[in-house]
Amino acid sequence: MRRNIVHPGAGKLKYEIREIVAFAREISDRWNIPIQWENIGDPVRKGEPVAQWIKDIVRDKVLEDLSYAYSETEGAVEAREFIAARANSREKISGEYEEGSGRPPKAQPGDRGEPARIGAADVLFFNGLGDAVAKVFGFLRREARVLGPSPAYSTLSSAEAAHSGYEHLTYRLDPGRNWMPDMNDVELKVRYNDSIAGILLINPDNPTGAVYPVEVLREFVRIAKTYGLFIICDETYANIVYGGAKTAALSQVTGDVPGLALRSLSKEIPWPGARCGWVEVYNRKADRRFDAYVRSLVDSKRLEVCSTTLPQLCIAPIMGDSRYPAHLARRAQMFNLRACEAHKAFEGIPGVTLIKPRGALYATAIFDRETLESSAERSLPVKDPALAEFIQTRTAEVAPDKRFVYWLLASTGICVVPLSGFASELPGFRFTLLEYNDEKRQDIFKTLGDAARAYLES
Ligand SMILES: Cc1ncc(COP(=O)(O)O)c(C=O)c1O
Repeated sequence: MRRNIVHPGAGKLKYEIREIVAFAREISDRWNIPIQWENIGDPVRKGEPVAQWIKDIVRDKVLEDLSYAYSETEGAVEAREFIAARANSREKISGEYEEGSGRPPKAQPGDRGEPARIGAADVLFFNGLGDAVAKVFGFLRREARVLGPSPAYSTLSSAEAAHSGYEHLTYRLDPGRNWMPDMNDVELKVRYNDSIAGILLINPDNPTGAVYPVEVLREFVRIAKTYGLFIICDETYANIVYGGAKTAALSQVTGDVPGLALRSLSKEIPWPGARCGWVEVYNRKADRRFDAYVRSLVDSKRLEVCSTTLPQLCIAPIMGDSRYPAHLARRAQMFNLRACEAHKAFEGIPGVTLIKPRGALYATAIFDRETLESSAERSLPVKDPALAEFIQTRTAEVAPDKRFVYWLLASTGICVVPLSGFASELPGFRFTLLEYNDEKRQDIFKTLGDAARAYLES
């Protein structure tokens, strides 16, 4: 090649959630070990039936010719109007959202407490949020950085790193405070690094299951306003909140700060195979550069014509159906029970902490670093000596939590994701709350807890 054709950010594209699959398949193929896939957040794949009334709506849409047509570049008008009306119906925040503080919410300058209002033109559809994330970061000016959480959902952190060509800039989520963001860390990084143009948050969070109270969201908004930043809030799991957690949508707290909320059909219908997500744009006209940036997102979508039409046309009939609120409430309750089960399975294990998730579909266990790293020889029982030897050689150079994940695979066939794959320095692993079969799921949680304990005792 006479020119280097490799993008400077090419090496930054890491997605451990699926990369671990290749390793698991190798073990499965060579040693005939059935794998329990606890790495990927697909409720349907893990046995959750799609509600019959939802399937009926999709079937009816399949029978309409226009479901086979292109939609407008931004998305089907009826879907965007529905989404905008839904966003506009979010309530003004009142004191009841103030978890534990007993204080009324602090007023922010420029914020009259009214949720941001949007029109259909402020909604932009993508082929899943994966597509949205690629464009949101891909069309940011190279030097403009977005500060995101650590641990982080790797699609977001990798996209930011790849866009800039540098390591993703992160703020700390603190396991000692139920995974709440260290707001001091956020503000110091923003103050002393003027390349930071935006802040990313995920609420509810993947991988930690944390749900941010309104006060925390307001603090993000205050920092963004003070330093002239925009906010990206990934709200994939906005309707999967449980265990008494209270939170708000970005639109309810953003005031006049420019922002993007990322939402999707994948997890709440659930319909991840639809590849359908959207961005809600708040306060687009508040800043001329933000406006131009949003225009570039639309223009880039225009080059692709549009996103897939069928799932968009199903949104209003499904989400506007009178059964939808009960559908969401039932699922939230289901995940709450599973979060309690996972928490219980890890209770009292020395050197391992699992903070009970309060939203989303995952649980994250962390190892006490000192205990984990006090021996480099840890392992789990593996029946076949050839497999044990294979794991020994493959774990020689990998991060300590990934080493555990490899041994776990060989010993139990359960595939989880090491926390080091989530832009995190904390050693641990993430698994899903998705196995639909109760007995199987409880057995998986127990096996994971037992394996973590046995590993640290080895
Ligand atoms: C936080 C978060 N954002 C975005 C996505 C991507 O979702 P989609 O299926 O819409 O691409 C996921 C998927 O797991 C996620 O966890």
